[in-house]
Amino acid sequence: MKQLILFGATLALFLFGGCSSEEKQTTSNSPSFDEVFLSRRSIRNYDASKKISEAEVRELLKATQEAPSWANQQPTKYYVAISPEKLTAVQDMVGANKERIANAPVLIVSTFERGKSGFFQGNQTNEIGDGWGAYDNGLSNCYLILKARAMGFDTLIMGMRDSDKLRQLFGIPENETVMAVIALGYRASEPNYPSKRDLDEIVTFF
Ligand SMILES: Cc1cc2nc3c(=O)[nH]c(=O)nc-3n(C[C@H](O)[C@H](O)[C@H](O)COP(=O)(O)O)c2cc1C
Repeated sequence: MKQLILFGATLALFLFGGCSSEEKQTTSNSPSFDEVFLSRRSIRNYDASKKISEAEVRELLKATQEAPSWANQQPTKYYVAISPEKLTAVQDMVGANKERIANAPVLIVSTFERGKSGFFQGNQTNEIGDGWGAYDNGLSNCYLILKARAMGFDTLIMGMRDSDKLRQLFGIPENETVMAVIALGYRASEPNYPSKRDLDEIVTFF
């Protein structure tokens, strides 16, 4: 009898308990896709009191591995400055960006391995060549900045950086091209929404 009651209780919990998909949706803390898109902005002022753990950075970078890449070559690599020494060093390698990212708790250097994306058996597939590696790197970094926002973080992609000094600091091999440095942290103030071109200026339908 005791067993029957226990079985009934378990069944009731399963049928009416917290495992319906409707309930899952309403209790989820994840922002919607549109919320992520619209609230993601380049942030140039970070909150010094808020830190980000290595585990959180790992979760973030794991998400970049879902990005598509040429023949799944996955040419993007990341070098993460999270220690005070490395953060200070990288801050001096981003030119006029230094002030903007002074309080960011993490700085991520992104590179891509040349000769992978855009190549087949060592031969360049078309006129873009290693441009496809840069393309894939941009895709990975796009996943990074959107996942970051979904996790409640903010980012600044920086094209203004000293690639030679970064290469030396992190021991980045010669077969990798250094692309952007990405600041990761929490916004200290709300950014302005930048103006965007008219859709018809960038789209042509035929
Ligand atoms: C490849 C690339 C390089 C960039 N380099 C810098 C930079 O060095 N410094 C900076 O403050 N912003 C930089 N940005 C941020 C852009 O200025 C920003 O994305 C643009 O103004 C649109 O603003 P939003 O990101 O808030 O939509 C860069 C963005 C990209 C994609």
